[in-house]
Amino acid sequence: MPEMLDFDQVTAGYGNAVVLDRLCFSIAQGQSLAVLGRNGVGKTTLLETLMGNTRVMSGTIRWRGDDITRRPAHLRVRAGLGWVPQEREVFPSLTVEENLTVVARPGPWNLDRVYDFFPRLRERRANYGNQLSGGEQQMLAIGRALMTNPALLLLDEPMEGLAPIIVEELARSIRRLCESEGLASIVVEQHPVLALEMTHQAIVLERGTVVHSGPSADLAADVALLDRLLGVGIEEFAS
Ligand SMILES: Nc1ncnc2c1ncn2[C@@H]1O[C@H](COP(=O)(O)OP(=O)(O)O)[C@@H](O)[C@H]1O
Ligand SMILES: [Mg+2]
Repeated sequence: MPEMLDFDQVTAGYGNAVVLDRLCFSIAQGQSLAVLGRNGVGKTTLLETLMGNTRVMSGTIRWRGDDITRRPAHLRVRAGLGWVPQEREVFPSLTVEENLTVVARPGPWNLDRVYDFFPRLRERRANYGNQLSGGEQQMLAIGRALMTNPALLLLDEPMEGLAPIIVEELARSIRRLCESEGLASIVVEQHPVLALEMTHQAIVLERGTVVHSGPSADLAADVALLDRLLGVGIEEFAS
């Protein structure tokens, strides 16, 4: 079976600046991938490149067997890529419901299903984007991506800046999307513990290239390796 997504020696960046350097990774149908690495290594740029928002200098991106390296960004959403941006980018002057319906595309996910999945959004349906808490904004950003009926969900530091109780709830929701709904996902995270718990495979980036690749569970179990790759102290695991 061909991979769902394949990055083959992708070199990309902004203008003349190279950020991703011959990047290689792939995702199988329905699998989830953690993309880990310190600040500034190119995690967001990887997602931006997948969405068609950077300059690709060389290499090939394949989506379900098709070469999409030069495909315009709006056609990538149509092809099944659902992006949840790092800044969430909720429309502040639209209501929750308008934020959701404005991007809707036909498929199994509709307003009712998104509200069933995030009951909090149903309660807040008439509130404006700028009246939401950080956790609610993140639910809305994910709900909006679901309304486009993606096959692959791209999450850029979904837990950033959220209270621990909200982080736990969101982590459960995201895991449920993969396990029960069969969605594939890329979860970009600086903090590896949760990301490794919610994914099948993991890659670690350094300066735009992959320095480790393997099952998430194996990496989570190897504290010495995690410490070497990411500077994660043992104490983070003791709690
Ligand atoms: N729009 C941009 N134009 C130019 N350089 C950028 C842009 N966005 C990010 N960069 C640079 O690309 C590198 C990787 O950034 P980024 O992908 O945001 O890293 P991460 O998400 O891992 O923190 C950084 O050196 C950053 O300064
Ligand atoms: Mg980033």
